[in-house]
Amino acid sequence: MSPSERPALPEALRAEFTELVRHYPERQAALIPALHRCQEELGGWLTPETLEACAEFFGLEPVEVFGVASFYPMFHLRPVGRHVVGVCHNISCALRGAEDILRETCRVTGSKPGGVSADGRFSVVRLECQGACTAAPMLVLDGAFHENLATADVARVLGGAR
Ligand code: FES
Repeated sequence: MSPSERPALPEALRAEFTELVRHYPERQAALIPALHRCQEELGGWLTPETLEACAEFFGLEPVEVFGVASFYPMFHLRPVGRHVVGVCHNISCALRGAEDILRETCRVTGSKPGGVSADGRFSVVRLECQGACTAAPMLVLDGAFHENLATADVARVLGGAR
């Protein structure tokens, strides 16, 4: 189902969020886990329509929801590949070869940073510090950390993504 064909916030997610908000002191505090669930269920990225529907559900202004979704790099506001590869580029990783890891990631996937590979398999993004500085350089593949990387490791790591 394409983004234009599916509901911005399906009933199943609304029901889930109605239960979810019961576990937080304030309704708005459940926004981030709700955005994660939207992204998981609605094609891997958050459309403007979904952000607006979440704003309405959580009693927020659309700009507030957009601000949250655009602040955190784990939320995607454009279509992404089936697998998302994030390469940390902050200081510890940069000093230990993050640019080489990123370059190799782009070579192996065929995606540019911020883009999607032609076959739709991979997206590559630059990440801010992931708190794994002692194991720099590192990348995150579909949420899993891969640390202490050499460029020669990248193809093996990405080869595990089906
Ligand atoms: S700088 Fe890369 S994990 Fe901290």
